[in-house]
Order: sequence, then C-alpha cells, then structure tokens
Amino acid sequence: MKDITFDNKDKMAIIGLGTWKSDKGLVYKAVRRAIEVGYRHIDCAAIYGNEAEIGEAFADAFKAGDIKREDLWVTSKLWNTAHKATAVKPALEKTLADLQLEYLDLYLMHWPIAMKEDAGFPFKGEDFYTLDEVPLEETWEAMLKEKQEGLVNHTGVSNFHIDNLETLGRIEFPEMNQVEMHPFLPQQKLVDYCKAKGINMTAYSPLGSMDRPARAKQENEPMLMEQPVVQKIAEKHGASPAQILINWSVQRGIAVIPKSTNDQRIADNFNAATIELTAQEVEHIDGIQSGFRFIDGSIWVGEGSPYRLEDLWEL
Ligand code: A2P
Repeated sequence: MKDITFDNKDKMAIIGLGTWKSDKGLVYKAVRRAIEVGYRHIDCAAIYGNEAEIGEAFADAFKAGDIKREDLWVTSKLWNTAHKATAVKPALEKTLADLQLEYLDLYLMHWPIAMKEDAGFPFKGEDFYTLDEVPLEETWEAMLKEKQEGLVNHTGVSNFHIDNLETLGRIEFPEMNQVEMHPFLPQQKLVDYCKAKGINMTAYSPLGSMDRPARAKQENEPMLMEQPVVQKIAEKHGASPAQILINWSVQRGIAVIPKSTNDQRIADNFNAATIELTAQEVEHIDGIQSGFRFIDGSIWVGEGSPYRLEDLWEL
C-alpha cells in the first residue's frame, strides 16, 4: 500500500476507510473488517455521530491483537459548533473519549464555517457566527495548541479553497486538506496549489456518495460508477468501477477514503491499490471532468446565513 508522507516522515496509508453515513449497528463490524483485511487508516468525524461505536471497534481490535495503536492512522474532525478557542479542547476530548484513544493522528477543521454551540439541523440564519465573530485563525491557533500538547500529531482542514488556506498559512499552513475529489471534480488548481505549499490531500466522496440522504441530493445527479469510460476500463482490468475510481486517486498520489459497510466491498476497495492503470487510461478518465459537486455547500448558504458559496469554492 502506498503512503502519504508527512514532513516529520509519519506515513498515512493512501487508502482509508470512510465512515460518513456508516450507520450505527454497522460501523463496528465495518471497522473490524477493514482492519482485518489490511486497512491502516480510518477517517472519522464527530458530526458523523458514530465515533463511540468506532471506538468500541478500535478497543476490541487492540485487545484482540489485530493491530497496535501505533500502526493505525486515525483522523477525526472538529465540527462547526466548536470553532471558538475555548471550545476546541472539549470537542477534541469528546472525540478522543468516544474513539477510546489517547491521541489522534490527524485532526481537521471540518468546514471553514463557524456556528453557534446549539445549532442543529435544519440550520437557520441565526445559527451562524460570521468569520469576523469567530475567525478561522482563532480556531486554527487552538488546534495547533493541541498539537503542541500532544493530543493530535498532525493538524489540517477540510473543504478549504485557496483563499482560506492562505489565511491559515499566515500562521502555519495545514498539513492536510480533505476535499471532494473524483473524476467529475479533479480540483487540479487546488491540487497544484497544495503541492506547492506542501499540503497533503485526501479525496472524499470518491464514489459519489450515493447513500447521502435525499435532502442532500440534487435532481438527476450524474452517476460516477456508471460513466461508460470508467465501466469500460473496469471491464478491461476485471475490476469494478469503484475500484477504478479509487485507483485513479491513488495514481494521483492523493489519499482516498471510500465508505463502505459491506464486507465484500470493504475488501474490494482496499484491493483497488493493486490495479495498474495505464497513462492513457488515466487520461481517458481525466476527460470526464464536468465540475460536478455532490457536496455543493448549499446547506451553508440558506436564507439569513452570512456565508456565500464563493466563501467556500472558487467560483
Ligand atoms: P456500501 O456501504 O453499501 O458499500 P463514497 O465513499 O463516495 O461516500 O460512496 C459510498 C457509497 O458507495 C455507499 O453507498 C457505499 O455502499 C457504496 N460503495 C462503496 N464501495 C463500493 C463498491 N466497491 N462498489 C459499489 N458501491 C460501493
């Protein structure tokens, strides 16, 4: 398995298990299964609501001797309601308690959006803080402090575009930017920028996240796994379309976190690392790009919200 190497030489396996939308009652088994088939990287977040069950899986995997803590890479994310400096440590401590861990390998600011402590879905205008009220720098400095204190080994962000990365870079550039990435949305400009600044990247929703709740979907969304180019290449390699999409990210040197709670697909996704796409096949897949976002950010810009889509993406 290829790795992403951080500046201090720590290594994160390039394929990780995604856990967004992994239901309670299923995610314990998914994590145990993933570790059993060789995953060494699990991507979590407080807002996914399943960290306590994932923590049970970690504790049992350590107890059973399936893996040692130091051989597992665990990422989690700070939710928008904990952006104030005083809220960061309690949020991190809750995540650590739920995951039954002493430290995280990587802690990400989930969105460049600050929300009131009691904000709950569906969001109303008054649920948001503006970035003047709770600047990204305030949250970032509090996260860096946790790195200094040893509760997290690496710090990064998610859903950040270039301007927001520049803002943090005036203090210290993040070590990771996790964003939506797949052949519809290769994010080449952001990839080039991150590379120049030494920021590693992770691709979320690499398969199109078709299990999102209906309210988070747009009408007539294109299906990544049904793209004829992907299907044809999959057939040629005796692989599944999902494996081709995962391998496409691996070929770009970008970490990728496909979610599955299905025993077979968890193993298949991990084994996607062994496919060898030719340069011409990669070029054909690159040709799919349409700019389509599955996670379009519209949830953050409803009536009364101080945020605009141009605060999130380069438009
Ligand atoms: P399941 O959990 O039942 O396997 P994303 O990683 O882009 O969020 O996509 C997750 C969605 O893709 C889930 O619906 C998941 O279903 C499905 N999925 C995961 N792996 C595969 C695979 N190898 N083939 C087909 N669908 C998959």
